Amino acid sequence: MASIIQSLLVLVLATLATFMVPCSAQLSPNFYNKVCPKALPVIRSVVQRAIVREPRIGASFLRLHFHDCFVNGCDGSVLLDDTRNFTGEKTAQPNLNSIRGFEVVDEIKAAVDKACKRPVVSCADILATAARDSVAILGGLHLWYPVLLGRRDARTASKDAANNNLPAPFFSFSQLLTNFNSHGMNLKDLVALSGGHTIGFSRCTNFRDRIYNDTNINPTFAASLRRTCPRVGGDNNLAPLDPTPAMVDTSYYKELLCNKGLLHSDQELYKGNGSESDKLVKLYSENPFAFAKDFKASIIKMGNLKPLTGRKGEIRRNCRRVCKLYAVFLRSSFIIENYSIGSLDY
Ligand code: HEM
Ligand SMILES: *[C@@H]1O[C@H](CO)[C@@H](O)[C@H](O)[C@H]1NC(C)=O
Ligand SMILES: *[C@@H]1O[C@H](CO)[C@@H](O)[C@H](O)[C@H]1NC(C)=O
Ligand SMILES: *[C@@H]1O[C@H](CO)[C@@H](O)[C@H](O)[C@H]1NC(C)=O
Ligand SMILES: *[C@@H]1O[C@H](CO)[C@@H](O)[C@H](O)[C@H]1NC(C)=O
Repeated sequence: MASIIQSLLVLVLATLATFMVPCSAQLSPNFYNKVCPKALPVIRSVVQRAIVREPRIGASFLRLHFHDCFVNGCDGSVLLDDTRNFTGEKTAQPNLNSIRGFEVVDEIKAAVDKACKRPVVSCADILATAARDSVAILGGLHLWYPVLLGRRDARTASKDAANNNLPAPFFSFSQLLTNFNSHGMNLKDLVALSGGHTIGFSRCTNFRDRIYNDTNINPTFAASLRRTCPRVGGDNNLAPLDPTPAMVDTSYYKELLCNKGLLHSDQELYKGNGSESDKLVKLYSENPFAFAKDFKASIIKMGNLKPLTGRKGEIRRNCRRVCKLYAVFLRSSFIIENYSIGSLDY
């Protein structure tokens, strides 16, 4: 009996919610201006504190946003833990023992929900904003851009999708370009966004083949990396992706000109034969403002990949878990949001 009433209730709520939520499809820089003007300043201050604690976390945020967007769009799916219903993205090959920063995402989410007094900011928007802030904090104001907002969070995630849609460090140039094209991104996006490797670190397991087998590598550079990364063992030993791993600058591209890219995939962007990709690497290596301009345009484009908007998806309360079904209906309608219904624990 109780469950029949509950089902009816859900039906009513669902119907109400359908009529009451305004439709909006486009992302916008002003999305939280009215509903929670403190949201962006709060995110920024938690990101700032986290970077002071550990500069690498800025790189980890940028990568989380990338790995979110390239797998079924920027929908916060990368943050979901495995459930009985699905195996999530965290254990997919490109992510396992590699993506990081989840505790600080939780910290941001808690701070922003507290400042807004209720969960209105999506986890997907938190990733996009934390990435934008990290780049500006570690690189300077010329790298700041108005981040587009209004994404909602996915209610599911897929390990297979993560394995199939993220590029790998052993990819050739044509595999990298094919991967980016499959997401609607072009050659310029590939070269500009690979500039994300101006910050952060890679584990030995991802550059071992390059330093022992590749021929387009500076021999002194390779020899010094072999001390960090033996042929056998030390898989998780870290090396910086460029010589200034806590600065968003153009040294990543300068290194490529000297065959000092850390990953095979990095060096694929520069072969020294005058290709279009070579020309972009050369341009960015010489001109920080050309890099900033193209990086910003490309990361905004990446942030627009298949966002959930309007009534699609949900605003999670905990970035690691989808909400219970009732809570989704409840929260999608502002009219009924303040009624408390005993057994609905969310
Ligand atoms: C073009 C294809 C790309 C490949 C093959 C690739 C691959 C990798 C690999 C293998 C690592 C090291 C992971 C580890 O060892 O645990 C890494 C780190 C990183 N990647 Fe990429 N990546 C690509 C593009 C991007 C893009 C587009 C961005 C962002 C705009 C990005 C941002 C980062 C950052 C910031 C790190 C360092 C993370 C940290 O230190 O926590 N990457 N990437
Ligand atoms: C699994 O999916 C069902 C139906 O969509 C949902 O009711 C349930 O809460 C989900 N379980 C978990 C652990 O997410
Ligand atoms: C290098 O290439 C050889 C021969 O193809 C292969 O057996 C080896 O696993 C590769 N990687 C390393 C780190 O030597
Ligand atoms: C440069 O080399 C790559 C592969 O090594 C090749 O695919 C490309 O066509 C070359 N480009 C030019 C302009 O020679
Ligand atoms: C719900 O409650 C909050 C705070 O108690 C209030 O600011 C908001 O206006 C209420 N919403 C509705 C639709 O009554």
